[in-house]
Amino acid sequence: MSGLVQVGLVGVGIIADTHLQVLAGQPGVALEFTVDPHRTEPPAFRGTKPPHYSDLAEALDVHQPHLVVIATPTDTHADLATQVLTLSSAQVLVEKPLVHDLGSLTRLRSLDGTTDAQNRVFTAHHFSFSPEVRWAAEQISDHPEWGPITDITSAFYDPYILRGEQAFASYISSWMDSGVNQLSMLARFVELTALTSAQQMDNGASAWCTCEYRSRGTVGTARLHSSWLTGSSSKKTTLTFGRSNVEIWIDHTAMTGFATHDGRLLEAYGNDGRTPRKVAHYQPLYESLLSGRPDPVLSFGTAATITELHHAAPPLDVIA
Ligand SMILES: NC(=O)c1ccc[n+]([C@@H]2O[C@H](COP(=O)([O-])OP(=O)(O)OC[C@H]3O[C@@H](n4cnc5c(N)ncnc54)[C@H](O)[C@@H]3O)[C@@H](O)[C@H]2O)c1
Repeated sequence: MSGLVQVGLVGVGIIADTHLQVLAGQPGVALEFTVDPHRTEPPAFRGTKPPHYSDLAEALDVHQPHLVVIATPTDTHADLATQVLTLSSAQVLVEKPLVHDLGSLTRLRSLDGTTDAQNRVFTAHHFSFSPEVRWAAEQISDHPEWGPITDITSAFYDPYILRGEQAFASYISSWMDSGVNQLSMLARFVELTALTSAQQMDNGASAWCTCEYRSRGTVGTARLHSSWLTGSSSKKTTLTFGRSNVEIWIDHTAMTGFATHDGRLLEAYGNDGRTPRKVAHYQPLYESLLSGRPDPVLSFGTAATITELHHAAPPLDVIA
């Protein structure tokens, strides 16, 4: 994307605030319109209000955006992305997860011949851009002598139980919401190959899954826990390099990390506390997307791989 990038924003809920904040800081971006059937007023953007619509097709009738951002409930992503592909020539950044079921992925793939979906659809795998994740990826790349990552444990907790049914309406389940974040974050470190077990508990508010991966020629297992039954948000991942006794701990909530060898501290990573967590994810994500050379973790191909692994878990209604 070059020149002034005209953006349309679809869905003006919680995460849209972060998109708007980050987009407002990108000098090459203008907000062309917003869409949300449940809001009558658009949000302010750099002190002015863009045209607002209750329906995406209506907005695309009037505007020719370069990029449409979809920040709506998960089960609407596929239909809205399809509208962007078929009713405009815009690229589309879809909030994660790209789709809520495998049928929707097949439908998006089937549009590739007529709409170039593979090159126009991007997924906001924002956890891959979190500073502690990029720090850990750099450590791994700088230290081939540590050998393969032999074990991974990751736990993602969000206090969504407090939001009750609204959490299920927006995010479907903890696996649907956090599982995609865990898998896309791990894609920075290893090549994910298969979901080897999956259990969803608490009517979908908790999940325990294991995933096989390859790291430096070796096969390992990632253990992934997620839950909404918690009083506060907390997200952590540990990477074990069993052959060299090195461990990396990353705290995604605090955006910190450290590496140890035989109990000795090798490196520690922190931040100045000034950048809010979600802005720290979406700022580099947008810089990458708008650079003209988007990070592969945003690509349709990566989203398709993650979707297939993610949906290898049995759907909730067949779990006893
Ligand atoms: N909240 C977060 O921290 C967060 C972080 C990253 C990604 N996400 C993802 O972003 C998506 C939205 O999450 P949220 O927390 O902002 O949800 P939300 O429920 O707060 O907001 C969704 C908004 O979309 C609007 N909407 C519903 N149907 C629409 C349609 N057809 N056209 C236009 N607007 C429509 C709703 O009125 C609402 O304002 C989800 O897929 C979620 O997984 C959320």
